[in-house]
Amino acid sequence: MTTQRPRVLITWPFPEPGPRMVEEVCDATRWSGKLPMPRAEFLRMLPDLDGLMVMNVAEKLDREAFEAAPRLRVVSDFGVGYDNVDVPAATERGILVCNTPGAMVECVADHTFALLLAVGRRLPKGQADVREGRWRTWLIESIVGQELYGATLGIIGLGNIGAAVARRARGFSMRILYTGRTRKPEAEAALGVEWMPMDDLLRQSDYISIHTPLTQETRGLIGRRELALLKPTAILVNTARGGVVDQQALIDVLREGKIYGAGLDVTDPEPLPTDSPLLTLENTIVLPHNGSAGANTRARMSQLAATNLIEGLSGRRPPHLVNPAAWEQRQGAS
Ligand code: 8YV
Repeated sequence: MTTQRPRVLITWPFPEPGPRMVEEVCDATRWSGKLPMPRAEFLRMLPDLDGLMVMNVAEKLDREAFEAAPRLRVVSDFGVGYDNVDVPAATERGILVCNTPGAMVECVADHTFALLLAVGRRLPKGQADVREGRWRTWLIESIVGQELYGATLGIIGLGNIGAAVARRARGFSMRILYTGRTRKPEAEAALGVEWMPMDDLLRQSDYISIHTPLTQETRGLIGRRELALLKPTAILVNTARGGVVDQQALIDVLREGKIYGAGLDVTDPEPLPTDSPLLTLENTIVLPHNGSAGANTRARMSQLAATNLIEGLSGRRPPHLVNPAAWEQRQGAS
């Protein structure tokens, strides 16, 4: 690391220990607003910065941002998704892009099951009935739901989080299907999961859980055609990215009762506008993208994001590098 401490911007009041780790070795500016940094303010600060620790669901690191940041060497995303970054544009400039994989796997898998159960057993309706005084006698018929135990779960994307969801599903004696571009024989043997093409999985599943990154290939992956394949008793849960689902198509099938319900930790856009039809549907739960909001998980994410940033700025390869080509390019240039 050069004698002059690198200048970095921490764009969000991230939990500790990350920000303090960064401040020990960098000249760090922290954004302390309760809302994301205004884009104009973000762009104004970029020319002087060597590194960034950003919220992966807020700050956009696109060509406009990179052109405003001639000194920038490292972008450290707080989170596993990096769809907020134009990675090819970063790589062209030798800018290292880092994320925090692994830190939130179990937390998001827990959250997925919270949604599967809450929608299936209609927990918000039951809570509302009690709070609003409708529990005058046994509400036996008014909140009959769907069982999870022994049902069929379809996992779209058997990555780390999808596999953690499958492990939980075994505890519920579920039949577990998965789909994705590649077969995973080891996972099939270890988890007792069955691969099948997307359409077959959608037709056969009682619960569908989405665990894919948002890419050009997965944007709109679950559209009208796919939703029409679902059972009328099917429940769709999305803890990945809102853009993977055609949200208007989902609203339509939910409104028309063509599927049983949906549990959404992510939407498009985020925050979801308060007048969204999704918020009027009794068969739908929408949460504020808090799948990784476990205290220990967020501390681990914070530590990983800070370590990535510090290592990259110190001339060492960060532990979680999204674009190794940028590192090779930098090594070749030095
Ligand atoms: C959010 C996530 O980043 O890791 C991801 O990609 O989507 C989440 O962990 C985190 O909740 C900050 O909003």
